[in-house]
Amino acid sequence: MVPQQPVGLLYAARHPGRAAPGSRVWRMSAQKPASWAYAEEFVTEDEVVEQARRRGEELGAVPVGNGAGVLLRLLAAAARARSVVEIGTGAGTSGLWLLQGMPEDGILTTIDVDTEHQGAARKAYAEAGIAHQRTRVIAGRALDVLPRMTDGAYDMVVVDADKREYPEYVDHAIRLLRSGGVLVLDNMLWHDKVADPAARDAETTVLRDLGKRLRDDERLVPALLPVGDGMFAAVKR
Ligand SMILES: C[S@@+](CC[C@H](N)C(=O)[O-])C[C@H]1O[C@@H](n2cnc3c(N)ncnc32)[C@H](O)[C@@H]1O
Repeated sequence: MVPQQPVGLLYAARHPGRAAPGSRVWRMSAQKPASWAYAEEFVTEDEVVEQARRRGEELGAVPVGNGAGVLLRLLAAAARARSVVEIGTGAGTSGLWLLQGMPEDGILTTIDVDTEHQGAARKAYAEAGIAHQRTRVIAGRALDVLPRMTDGAYDMVVVDADKREYPEYVDHAIRLLRSGGVLVLDNMLWHDKVADPAARDAETTVLRDLGKRLRDDERLVPALLPVGDGMFAAVKR
Protein backbone atom coordinates (compact mmCIF):
# COMPACT_ATOMS: atom_id res chain seq x y z
CA MET A 1 0.00 0.00 0.00
CA VAL A 2 1.42 3.33 -0.98
CA PRO A 3 0.65 6.54 0.93
CA GLN A 4 -0.83 9.55 -0.76
CA GLN A 5 1.65 11.72 1.18
CA PRO A 6 4.65 10.30 3.04
CA VAL A 7 4.05 12.72 5.91
CA GLY A 8 0.55 11.25 6.28
CA LEU A 9 1.85 7.71 6.57
CA LEU A 10 4.53 8.61 9.09
CA TYR A 11 2.09 10.56 11.18
CA ALA A 12 -0.51 7.80 10.92
CA ALA A 13 1.99 5.21 12.16
CA ARG A 14 2.64 7.33 15.23
CA HIS A 15 -0.94 8.56 15.78
CA PRO A 16 -3.33 5.91 14.49
CA GLY A 17 -6.78 7.21 13.57
CA ARG A 18 -5.82 10.91 13.52
CA ALA A 19 -5.38 13.17 10.51
CA ALA A 20 -1.85 14.43 9.93
CA PRO A 21 -1.52 18.17 10.58
CA GLY A 22 -2.23 20.12 7.41
CA SER A 23 -3.34 17.03 5.51
CA ARG A 24 -7.06 17.94 5.60
CA VAL A 25 -8.41 14.43 4.95
CA TRP A 26 -5.59 11.90 5.00
CA ARG A 27 -6.06 9.25 7.69
CA MET A 28 -4.33 5.88 7.69
CA SER A 29 -5.04 3.86 10.79
CA ALA A 30 -3.53 0.42 11.22
CA GLN A 31 -7.02 -0.98 10.61
CA LYS A 32 -7.35 0.57 7.13
CA PRO A 33 -6.40 -2.58 5.16
CA ALA A 34 -8.90 -4.60 7.19
CA SER A 35 -11.59 -1.99 6.47
CA TRP A 36 -10.80 -2.12 2.74
CA ALA A 37 -10.99 -5.92 2.75
CA TYR A 38 -14.31 -5.74 4.60
CA ALA A 39 -15.70 -3.24 2.08
CA GLU A 40 -14.50 -5.32 -0.90
CA GLU A 41 -16.50 -8.33 0.30
CA PHE A 42 -19.43 -6.44 1.84
CA VAL A 43 -21.80 -7.19 -1.06
CA THR A 44 -21.05 -10.62 -2.49
CA GLU A 45 -21.20 -12.02 -6.00
CA ASP A 46 -23.82 -14.60 -7.01
CA GLU A 47 -23.02 -18.07 -8.30
CA VAL A 48 -23.03 -17.15 -12.01
CA VAL A 49 -20.65 -14.25 -11.45
CA GLU A 50 -18.43 -16.52 -9.37
CA GLN A 51 -18.27 -19.05 -12.23
CA ALA A 52 -17.48 -16.33 -14.76
CA ARG A 53 -14.74 -15.01 -12.51
CA ARG A 54 -13.22 -18.50 -12.20
CA ARG A 55 -13.27 -18.97 -16.00
CA GLY A 56 -11.73 -15.53 -16.46
CA GLU A 57 -8.91 -16.42 -14.09
CA GLU A 58 -8.33 -19.72 -15.91
CA LEU A 59 -8.22 -17.97 -19.29
CA GLY A 60 -5.94 -15.18 -18.08
CA ALA A 61 -8.64 -12.53 -18.67
CA VAL A 62 -8.27 -11.04 -15.20
CA PRO A 63 -11.82 -10.30 -14.01
CA VAL A 64 -12.80 -7.23 -12.03
CA GLY A 65 -12.78 -7.88 -8.28
CA ASN A 66 -15.90 -8.11 -6.18
CA GLY A 67 -15.87 -4.51 -4.98
CA ALA A 68 -15.30 -3.20 -8.50
CA GLY A 69 -18.17 -5.30 -9.84
CA VAL A 70 -20.49 -4.00 -7.14
CA LEU A 71 -19.50 -0.45 -8.02
CA LEU A 72 -20.15 -1.06 -11.75
CA ARG A 73 -23.61 -2.35 -10.94
CA LEU A 74 -24.31 0.66 -8.73
CA LEU A 75 -23.17 3.17 -11.36
CA ALA A 76 -25.17 1.45 -14.12
CA ALA A 77 -28.27 1.57 -11.91
CA ALA A 78 -27.70 5.19 -10.81
CA ALA A 79 -27.28 6.32 -14.43
CA ARG A 80 -30.21 4.13 -15.55
CA ALA A 81 -27.79 3.09 -18.25
CA ARG A 82 -29.72 1.63 -21.20
CA SER A 83 -26.77 1.62 -23.55
CA VAL A 84 -23.38 0.64 -22.17
CA VAL A 85 -20.08 0.11 -23.98
CA GLU A 86 -17.51 -2.17 -22.39
CA ILE A 87 -13.95 -2.28 -23.73
CA GLY A 88 -12.50 -5.62 -22.56
CA THR A 89 -15.23 -8.28 -22.30
CA GLY A 90 -12.98 -10.91 -20.71
CA ALA A 91 -14.99 -13.93 -19.58
CA GLY A 92 -17.98 -11.73 -18.75
CA THR A 93 -17.62 -10.92 -15.05
CA SER A 94 -17.86 -7.13 -15.38
CA GLY A 95 -20.61 -7.49 -18.01
CA LEU A 96 -22.75 -9.55 -15.63
CA TRP A 97 -22.44 -6.90 -12.92
CA LEU A 98 -23.31 -4.15 -15.41
CA LEU A 99 -26.34 -6.04 -16.73
CA GLN A 100 -27.59 -6.52 -13.16
CA GLY A 101 -27.61 -2.74 -12.67
CA MET A 102 -28.99 -1.75 -16.08
CA PRO A 103 -32.73 -1.53 -16.81
CA GLU A 104 -34.22 -4.75 -18.22
CA ASP A 105 -34.26 -3.37 -21.75
CA GLY A 106 -30.66 -2.12 -21.50
CA ILE A 107 -28.11 -3.27 -24.08
CA LEU A 108 -24.46 -4.03 -23.32
CA THR A 109 -22.11 -3.58 -26.28
CA THR A 110 -18.88 -5.30 -25.37
CA ILE A 111 -15.63 -5.41 -27.36
CA ASP A 112 -12.76 -7.88 -27.08
CA VAL A 113 -9.98 -8.98 -29.37
CA ASP A 114 -9.99 -12.56 -28.01
CA THR A 115 -12.81 -14.77 -29.27
CA GLU A 116 -12.15 -17.46 -26.65
CA HIS A 117 -12.77 -14.90 -23.90
CA GLN A 118 -15.91 -13.79 -25.67
CA GLY A 119 -17.15 -17.39 -25.95
CA ALA A 120 -16.81 -17.70 -22.17
CA ALA A 121 -18.64 -14.39 -21.71
CA ARG A 122 -21.52 -15.50 -23.95
CA LYS A 123 -21.79 -18.66 -21.86
CA ALA A 124 -21.90 -16.59 -18.66
CA TYR A 125 -24.63 -14.29 -20.01
CA ALA A 126 -26.70 -17.33 -21.03
CA GLU A 127 -26.22 -18.95 -17.61
CA ALA A 128 -27.46 -15.73 -16.00
CA GLY A 129 -30.61 -15.88 -18.16
CA ILE A 130 -29.75 -12.69 -20.06
CA ALA A 131 -31.83 -12.44 -23.26
CA HIS A 132 -29.39 -12.66 -26.19
CA GLN A 133 -30.64 -9.39 -27.73
CA ARG A 134 -29.38 -7.54 -24.62
CA THR A 135 -25.73 -8.14 -25.50
CA ARG A 136 -23.81 -7.12 -28.61
CA VAL A 137 -20.50 -8.96 -28.41
CA ILE A 138 -18.09 -7.43 -30.93
CA ALA A 139 -14.85 -9.23 -31.83
CA GLY A 140 -11.97 -6.96 -32.75
CA ARG A 141 -9.34 -4.55 -31.56
CA ALA A 142 -11.01 -1.78 -29.61
CA LEU A 143 -9.25 0.94 -31.60
CA ASP A 144 -10.63 -0.54 -34.84
CA VAL A 145 -14.18 -0.84 -33.49
CA LEU A 146 -14.60 2.39 -31.48
CA PRO A 147 -14.25 4.83 -34.41
CA ARG A 148 -17.33 3.24 -36.00
CA MET A 149 -19.54 3.95 -32.98
CA THR A 150 -21.94 6.90 -32.74
CA ASP A 151 -21.17 10.13 -30.83
CA GLY A 152 -23.28 10.88 -27.74
CA ALA A 153 -25.26 7.64 -28.03
CA TYR A 154 -24.18 5.87 -24.81
CA ASP A 155 -25.00 6.23 -21.11
CA MET A 156 -21.89 4.54 -19.78
CA VAL A 157 -18.47 3.41 -21.03
CA VAL A 158 -16.32 0.95 -19.05
CA VAL A 159 -12.65 0.51 -19.94
CA ASP A 160 -10.71 -2.65 -18.98
CA ALA A 161 -8.48 -3.74 -21.90
CA ASP A 162 -4.89 -2.88 -23.01
CA LYS A 163 -3.53 -0.41 -20.44
CA ARG A 164 -1.20 1.29 -22.94
CA GLU A 165 -4.18 2.12 -25.14
CA TYR A 166 -6.29 3.64 -22.34
CA PRO A 167 -5.68 7.28 -23.45
CA GLU A 168 -7.05 6.52 -26.91
CA TYR A 169 -10.00 4.51 -25.53
CA VAL A 170 -10.82 7.46 -23.30
CA ASP A 171 -10.82 9.94 -26.18
CA HIS A 172 -13.40 7.76 -27.91
CA ALA A 173 -15.33 7.15 -24.70
CA ILE A 174 -15.83 10.85 -24.03
CA ARG A 175 -17.03 11.28 -27.60
CA LEU A 176 -19.46 8.34 -27.28
CA LEU A 177 -21.01 9.44 -23.97
CA ARG A 178 -24.10 11.59 -23.73
CA SER A 179 -24.04 14.52 -21.35
CA GLY A 180 -24.59 13.02 -17.87
CA GLY A 181 -23.08 9.71 -19.00
CA VAL A 182 -20.59 7.82 -16.85
CA LEU A 183 -17.01 6.89 -17.69
CA VAL A 184 -15.30 4.13 -15.68
CA LEU A 185 -11.68 2.96 -15.98
CA ASP A 186 -10.44 -0.09 -14.08
CA ASN A 187 -6.86 -0.60 -12.81
CA MET A 188 -6.19 3.09 -12.32
CA LEU A 189 -4.02 2.38 -9.25
CA TRP A 190 -2.31 -0.45 -11.20
CA HIS A 191 -1.00 -2.87 -8.57
CA ASP A 192 -0.33 0.07 -6.20
CA LYS A 193 2.32 1.41 -8.58
CA VAL A 194 0.52 4.58 -9.73
CA ALA A 195 0.88 6.22 -6.30
CA ASP A 196 4.55 5.25 -6.10
CA PRO A 197 6.66 7.97 -7.78
CA ALA A 198 9.54 5.50 -8.14
CA ALA A 199 7.45 3.22 -10.40
CA ARG A 200 8.10 4.40 -13.96
CA ASP A 201 7.35 1.43 -16.21
CA ALA A 202 5.36 2.19 -19.35
CA GLU A 203 1.92 1.01 -18.19
CA THR A 204 2.16 2.72 -14.80
CA THR A 205 3.29 5.97 -16.40
CA VAL A 206 0.46 5.91 -18.95
CA LEU A 207 -2.17 5.30 -16.26
CA ARG A 208 -0.73 7.88 -13.84
CA ASP A 209 -0.54 10.58 -16.52
CA LEU A 210 -4.01 9.72 -17.81
CA GLY A 211 -5.54 9.91 -14.32
CA LYS A 212 -4.10 13.40 -13.83
CA ARG A 213 -5.23 14.52 -17.29
CA LEU A 214 -8.79 13.32 -16.63
CA ARG A 215 -8.82 14.85 -13.15
CA ASP A 216 -8.13 18.22 -14.76
CA ASP A 217 -10.48 17.75 -17.75
CA GLU A 218 -13.23 20.35 -17.45
CA ARG A 219 -15.66 18.15 -19.40
CA LEU A 220 -15.69 15.66 -16.51
CA VAL A 221 -16.69 15.42 -12.83
CA PRO A 222 -14.01 12.94 -11.66
CA ALA A 223 -13.26 10.61 -8.74
CA LEU A 224 -10.49 8.08 -8.16
CA LEU A 225 -11.76 5.33 -5.89
CA PRO A 226 -9.55 2.85 -3.99
CA VAL A 227 -11.80 -0.06 -4.97
CA GLY A 228 -10.10 -3.20 -6.24
CA ASP A 229 -7.12 -2.15 -8.34
CA GLY A 230 -8.40 1.45 -8.42
CA MET A 231 -11.44 2.65 -10.29
CA PHE A 232 -11.56 6.04 -11.93
CA ALA A 233 -15.15 7.18 -12.43
CA ALA A 234 -16.44 10.40 -13.94
CA VAL A 235 -19.63 11.97 -15.17
CA LYS A 236 -19.50 13.83 -18.48
CA ARG A 237 -20.87 17.36 -17.97
C1 LIG B 1 -8.67 -7.60 -17.82
S1 LIG B 1 -9.47 -8.46 -19.10
C2 LIG B 1 -11.13 -7.90 -19.00
C3 LIG B 1 -11.88 -8.51 -17.86
C4 LIG B 1 -13.36 -8.19 -17.84
N1 LIG B 1 -13.60 -6.76 -17.82
C5 LIG B 1 -13.99 -8.89 -16.66
O1 LIG B 1 -14.17 -8.27 -15.61
O2 LIG B 1 -14.27 -10.09 -16.79
C6 LIG B 1 -8.88 -7.58 -20.50
C7 LIG B 1 -9.51 -8.03 -21.79
O3 LIG B 1 -9.13 -7.07 -22.78
C8 LIG B 1 -8.92 -7.77 -23.99
N2 LIG B 1 -8.07 -6.92 -24.85
C9 LIG B 1 -6.73 -6.71 -24.74
N3 LIG B 1 -6.31 -5.86 -25.68
C10 LIG B 1 -7.41 -5.53 -26.40
C11 LIG B 1 -7.63 -4.68 -27.52
N4 LIG B 1 -6.63 -3.99 -28.08
N5 LIG B 1 -8.89 -4.56 -27.98
C12 LIG B 1 -9.92 -5.24 -27.42
N6 LIG B 1 -9.77 -6.06 -26.36
C13 LIG B 1 -8.53 -6.20 -25.86
C14 LIG B 1 -8.29 -9.09 -23.59
O4 LIG B 1 -8.48 -10.07 -24.58
C15 LIG B 1 -9.03 -9.39 -22.28
O5 LIG B 1 -10.13 -10.23 -22.48
